[in-house]
Amino acid sequence: MTHAPVAMAQSIPERRALPLIGHALDLPRGADGLVHLMKEAKELGPVFRLRLFGSEIVVVAGLDLVTELSDETRFRKSVNRDLVEVREIAGDGLFTAFNHEPNWRKAHDILMPAFSLGAMRDYHGTMLQVARSLIAKWDRAGADHPVDVPEDMTRLTFDTIGLCGFGFDFESFRRDDTHPFVDAMARALAFAQDKVESMPGSELFKRKQAERFHQDNMLMTDLVDEVIRQRRASGDTSTDDLLGRMLHTRDAATGEPLDDTNVRNQVITFLIAGHETTSGALSFALYYLTKHPEVLARAQAEVDALWGDEDAPDPGYGDIGKLTYIRQVLNESLRLWPTAPGFAVEPLEDTVIGGKYAVRKGEALTVLTPALHRDPAWGENVELFDPERFTQAQEEKRSVHLFKPFGNGERACIGRQFALHEATLLLGLLVHRYRLIDHTDYQLKIKQSLTIKPDGFTLRLARRAGGE
Ligand code: HEM
Repeated sequence: MTHAPVAMAQSIPERRALPLIGHALDLPRGADGLVHLMKEAKELGPVFRLRLFGSEIVVVAGLDLVTELSDETRFRKSVNRDLVEVREIAGDGLFTAFNHEPNWRKAHDILMPAFSLGAMRDYHGTMLQVARSLIAKWDRAGADHPVDVPEDMTRLTFDTIGLCGFGFDFESFRRDDTHPFVDAMARALAFAQDKVESMPGSELFKRKQAERFHQDNMLMTDLVDEVIRQRRASGDTSTDDLLGRMLHTRDAATGEPLDDTNVRNQVITFLIAGHETTSGALSFALYYLTKHPEVLARAQAEVDALWGDEDAPDPGYGDIGKLTYIRQVLNESLRLWPTAPGFAVEPLEDTVIGGKYAVRKGEALTVLTPALHRDPAWGENVELFDPERFTQAQEEKRSVHLFKPFGNGERACIGRQFALHEATLLLGLLVHRYRLIDHTDYQLKIKQSLTIKPDGFTLRLARRAGGE
């Protein structure tokens, strides 16, 4: 392919910037920042530049450009400023590893088989067991006591990755508060995010938070070391789960296993990446099901056809692939609110994108997925929640680059099948069992850290069959 010579290139659109601070005053913090960027994409077009305290971010939101940026012969994952800060927590774990770090390839090759579609068969029973703990809690709450949806989804996804990945039971449904690891992780990620958004040097005035960050990191590290210690002490050398694979598999290319520090970084990575995003996706899906009774009715018809009016069905592994409408609901929720709302790539060489914008080798280009997922190529009413967009026929008609909730290429989400299996199973069980009562007439408010979720979303639940 030929690209326009750099000499003819135009500047990437941007608003007038103030000296030193750039656009920092225009950009609200947290979730409002995301909504602001989505608005900017509408007004400035599919690519624009932001300047924050001397650093620059190029935001990309349109189909044509994302299609171009998905070409792995020209672009690769950028471990951008946000991720560099997350490295303070997860080191060279898969998610935050630089492309050139040998541990990325090594861990990727060792762990890939544990995430194949077939591997989900091994996790299914444990996923079901955790789903049953959530249902027991929701049954106890009955119709009188509201449940906090994102909080309980977090309990579920955290216990699921703990048990499926590492054989470790965090027992989140046996405690009233959230697990200390979850709190420590949320604070640590918020601290890392704050650092990115703040004026350079301002961390000097945040000694207390920095000390807390250090303590939170220690708490996470200690817990993970305990998980690893228990496994080693058990004498179990099987490679049936992620931890077993990491401790006892040798990399085919180098003949070496992962070193201990890297195993720790991977466990922390999986505990973070394996639960926040999936719990947000489940929460958004439940929000949309609550607000769209006709969609809920179709989802219920799908599970009723499979499980009848059995009180507590025992879904088999094979049932999950049959819940195609529920999968459409999940996909449509991930379209409107992809819970990891962006990912960054960088050019392998100086190049021109969109036929006219020069970008430098190594410059971070951030794909803003919630904006891409509202590209006009989705049709007229892009804000409308409509699972029909994800029928097989519609998917076949559409460019694969229009839907990127799991990122792109080699560095795309390794846990995608895991998340989809877990979420489809749980949503199926929930819509089969409950009526979802929107007792506060909830208005969607997004909460953002590294990921996004509906803030303050509670539901009351009534049993569908003979429940009230
Ligand atoms: C990477 C989204 C669930 C583990 C990613 C990336 C995205 C993403 C967008 C690419 C990030 C980038 O390019 O910088 C999601 C969403 C999920 C989900 C939306 C749920 C709905 C999971 C689960 C796990 C997981 C359940 C583990 C069990 C990872 C890891 C990476 C990753 C380890 C880094 C892969 C690599 O670079 O080799 N995820 N994820 N994710 N995800 Fe997920």
